[in-house]
Amino acid sequence: MTYETISVSKVTPNIGAYISGVDLSQALSDQTFEEINSALVENQVIFFRDQHMSPDQHKDLGRRFGSLHVHPVAPGIAGHPEILPLHSDAKVQYAASAWHSDVSCDQQPNLGAILYAKVLPEHGGDTMFASMHAAYEGLTGQMQHFLSGLEAQHGSEHIFGPPKKAGDKRPTAVHPVIRTHPVSGRQGIYVNGSFTTKIVGMKPKESAAILQFLYQHIDTPEYHVRFQWEVNSIAFWDNRSTQHRAVADYFPQTRTMHRVTVNGDKPFYRPNA
Ligand SMILES: [Fe+2]
Repeated sequence: MTYETISVSKVTPNIGAYISGVDLSQALSDQTFEEINSALVENQVIFFRDQHMSPDQHKDLGRRFGSLHVHPVAPGIAGHPEILPLHSDAKVQYAASAWHSDVSCDQQPNLGAILYAKVLPEHGGDTMFASMHAAYEGLTGQMQHFLSGLEAQHGSEHIFGPPKKAGDKRPTAVHPVIRTHPVSGRQGIYVNGSFTTKIVGMKPKESAAILQFLYQHIDTPEYHVRFQWEVNSIAFWDNRSTQHRAVADYFPQTRTMHRVTVNGDKPFYRPNA
């Protein structure tokens, strides 16, 4: 893809790019939107510096990519339920320091999220992203073939606890272990250590061994990029092809991020043509 309205500078060969030459507070032209969307799909996470957006502009940016997700439990910032504050300080620690893709327990997990840095610790508080395409492509053909026929169970009760009201259920879903990206057609590993509970149809020992192998494999630096935030930086990740984790090294300092989350589609596997 050649870019005409934005500049795209890769951070690593496998994942991550800086985007410059665009003011995200303004309505995007169709061409700029297409180019940002292509950069997102190709690089899986894209980074912007020095962006000045109001909450409405943040939401407008998200809406170019799809409908916005409203968190069922956590409240948004005042007057904007679609903007989820992620806040840590000496009293509250928001961690998310294990690799995961967001809400893979949902039938239709998020397409992606646009995270905007508002308040940062003096040092630290980076976010790491892992390419599930690169991790898949780093497996042998035999292993890719074996995994491509499997499905995994995802849940959230073990993370969020039992539902607050009797009769409610925490979301669960079954998704393919190898997920085909709906735009690029690239394959990626789609199990994560936070939400995935087992591989369907396997004995517990078999499932645990395969998942453990995949989690170790994903945790390989060649598949990663690490973003050092500045106030007014944005990271926009493709939740279909990445996992992420926070680096929780700044307690008890304050870190506040605003997140707009774009709704996604149902994961599927389609063999390569
Ligand atoms: Fe997350």
